[in-house]
Amino acid sequence: MTESTFIHRFEPATSAGSPPLLLLHGTGGDENDLLGLGKMISPGSALLSPRGRVLEHGMPRFFRRLAEGVFDEEDVRRRALELGDFVTEASKQYGIAAPVAVGFSNGANIAAALLLLKPDVLAGAILLRAMVPLSDPPENQPAKPELGGKPILLLSGQADPIVPASNSARLAALLSQAGAGVTHKVLPAGHQLSQADVTLARDWIGSVAAEAA
Ligand code: MLT
Repeated sequence: MTESTFIHRFEPATSAGSPPLLLLHGTGGDENDLLGLGKMISPGSALLSPRGRVLEHGMPRFFRRLAEGVFDEEDVRRRALELGDFVTEASKQYGIAAPVAVGFSNGANIAAALLLLKPDVLAGAILLRAMVPLSDPPENQPAKPELGGKPILLLSGQADPIVPASNSARLAALLSQAGAGVTHKVLPAGHQLSQADVTLARDWIGSVAAEAA
């Protein structure tokens, strides 16, 4: 692979009908973090799980931030495109279809950026505790994102100290306006994941796979 290579784990599918997943960890996580979650929400899916290439005090992330919730947007754009190249190449190499992203926190934010900047790379996404990744996405990107009905599940925490309710609502609106089929649910949770996230994500991906079949 080219310079877009990421340290990653790949686990092949064990069931033909399950969509491949792109697992994107949160700040301080790595390529091993979400393998268990991936297996819980979609048993049998191929799993592609890269490690973010930016280090913040030694903690891997997918893009640089200036402060909590304040992103270096030039870096967001660059890193999202890099990740997109990696996913395209890795999908070819491993022989999988465009994956459904499953991102948590920083991983959900880079997935949202990827959806806005390079929508063809993903078949859909589960965004766990995501926020708006780019303050002005439509103007500065090459073309208006065309999400063409791609399914997106956005799960937010009602008491999330990092993601204000208005921000996740804005993200849901932005993705809908770009043509995605967005399901947004606000859970009685904080920034951390809860059992409800797992159950909702599992049910949602089951219905998406059934529709695609
Ligand atoms: C981010 O930097 O992407 C968000 O603040 C979420 C986080 O990683 O804490």
